[in-house]
Amino acid sequence: MSAEAQKQAAAEVAVAKVESGTVIGVGSGSTVNLFIDALAASDTRIEAAVAASEASAERLRGHGIDVVDANRVTELAVYIDGADEINRHLQMIKGGGGALTREKIVAALSKRFICIVDESKRVTALGDFPLPVEVIPMARSYVARELVKLGGRPELREGFTTDNGNIILDVRSLDLSKPLHREQELNNLAGVVTNGLFALRPADELLVGTDTGVQRFT
Ligand code: A5P
Repeated sequence: MSAEAQKQAAAEVAVAKVESGTVIGVGSGSTVNLFIDALAASDTRIEAAVAASEASAERLRGHGIDVVDANRVTELAVYIDGADEINRHLQMIKGGGGALTREKIVAALSKRFICIVDESKRVTALGDFPLPVEVIPMARSYVARELVKLGGRPELREGFTTDNGNIILDVRSLDLSKPLHREQELNNLAGVVTNGLFALRPADELLVGTDTGVQRFT
């Protein structure tokens, strides 16, 4: 089964967990795109969604689903999003698509975070995927030097600006064996908006599409 088919299967199981009449959070990326399409094709009619990227907002609206500003909600029933890597503690690296900051905000607003992935995303240790760090442009060189001091190899994501008008440094070689500590440490660097480690707020449930069906982990 292709990765695409595995993503589709996980997305469909996630749709079944969404209740009509609720306001939900929707992340971004190719797996979430499949979720949005499957939600629109289902009998479930949500009240509205808060989207973690302009691209997801546009896709939702394209299906006639209302998109509301995050400031208008106090709590979301559930947040559905993908991941670039996820470990057995349901801690993740996210931000391959550059939407990490908004994804973290929407996840923070949500009662439950359901992560949907194909099986290539499950890892025993986080860190093969370069860690995205969103940085305010004037702090680019400073933050890059600090990341080198921490053992990382940062690389500017060329030609890319986040939905928030910032840049992304993709960082290789950082030791991520203590994700909680690392997430906080990186967020403390002046000029860092956020980093793609989701350890302080891991997923509550993981749905992995595999060749033998969708596996569920909590
Ligand atoms: C977007 O910024 C990311 O956090 C995505 O959730 C992640 O990259 C997963 O994307 P795919 O579903 O396209 O693999």
